[in-house]
Amino acid sequence: MKTMSILGCGWLGKALADTLLKKGYAVNGSVRSEKKGDMLRTIGATPYVIQVENSGIFGDFESFVAEADILITAFPPGIRQDPNANYTARIKQVLASLPSNCKLLHMSSIGVFGAMQGEVNETTFPVPDRDAGNQLLKAEEAVTALGANATIVRLGGLVGDGRHPAKQLAGKTEISAPMAPTNLVHQIDIVRFLTAVIEGDFWGQTLHCVSPLYHQRGVFYTQECEENGLALPHFSPDKSDRNKKVLDTKSAELFGFEYQLAGCHFKDC
Ligand SMILES: NC(=O)c1ccc[n+]([C@@H]2O[C@H](COP(=O)([O-])OP(=O)(O)OC[C@H]3O[C@@H](n4cnc5c(N)ncnc54)[C@H](OP(=O)(O)O)[C@@H]3O)[C@@H](O)[C@H]2O)c1
Repeated sequence: MKTMSILGCGWLGKALADTLLKKGYAVNGSVRSEKKGDMLRTIGATPYVIQVENSGIFGDFESFVAEADILITAFPPGIRQDPNANYTARIKQVLASLPSNCKLLHMSSIGVFGAMQGEVNETTFPVPDRDAGNQLLKAEEAVTALGANATIVRLGGLVGDGRHPAKQLAGKTEISAPMAPTNLVHQIDIVRFLTAVIEGDFWGQTLHCVSPLYHQRGVFYTQECEENGLALPHFSPDKSDRNKKVLDTKSAELFGFEYQLAGCHFKDC
């Protein structure tokens, strides 16, 4: 039986853990408190309390990865909560402690691309325009040094299981960039995508996991709020240069992937 260690069992990590357990994998999952660890035990994962800081890893990381065939990194840069968080340094701590026989499936973000980079695919050189994007990109560069022992998956905006941008935008005013494309992806599709990478042994890749249905932000979020009884959002008429559209041009060819919840609608969350 293969062992998967998921570093960061939050919204995405826990859903992935659930699916991998049902498929018969052994799963180690990490959170940052004992209390949340109990939740992992109830789904059948082995809980660890681990915190990756800028200067070191707190918790028994050695045991967490000792038997792991694959380590999946699923914790965010955390800069919004802590402006001193150094995500690049944190990922480098993880890489330095990774056993040589353990593969790495690294969750990154389409935030590596600048908001005005237009249409981008996996071969486009990212030019981040935010601190988090810079840190994500530098972390990716460090991961790339593992070559065929690692795959990077850049996730679009996350929806599913109670999460949808329409909730945050409802009732807000002066929201910018109504014409910009949404670049969303549903949790169910992300978990299917990651499982396909793991089961198909697709290593040494940089992949985009983003739904191929792009809505215009203004039209889409207004409609989603209207249809679901949320206060209407109001978009600014000011011109915006935000035009980022992130394409997944690899997964269909590599592992025949099709997005099942491509619409990313509020009702499916
Ligand atoms: N938000 C987006 O739209 C978006 C877009 C693209 C990509 N992503 C990426 O998607 C992945 C999953 O995000 P998510 O929404 O599932 O995150 P989440 O719900 O916030 O969960 C993060 C998990 O990681 C743990 N964690 C947080 N900081 C940590 C640290 N410094 N060291 C160790 N563990 C830490 C948390 O522990 P506790 O449970 O104890 O808090 C939690 O279990 C991340 O890699 C993120 O960068 C997000």
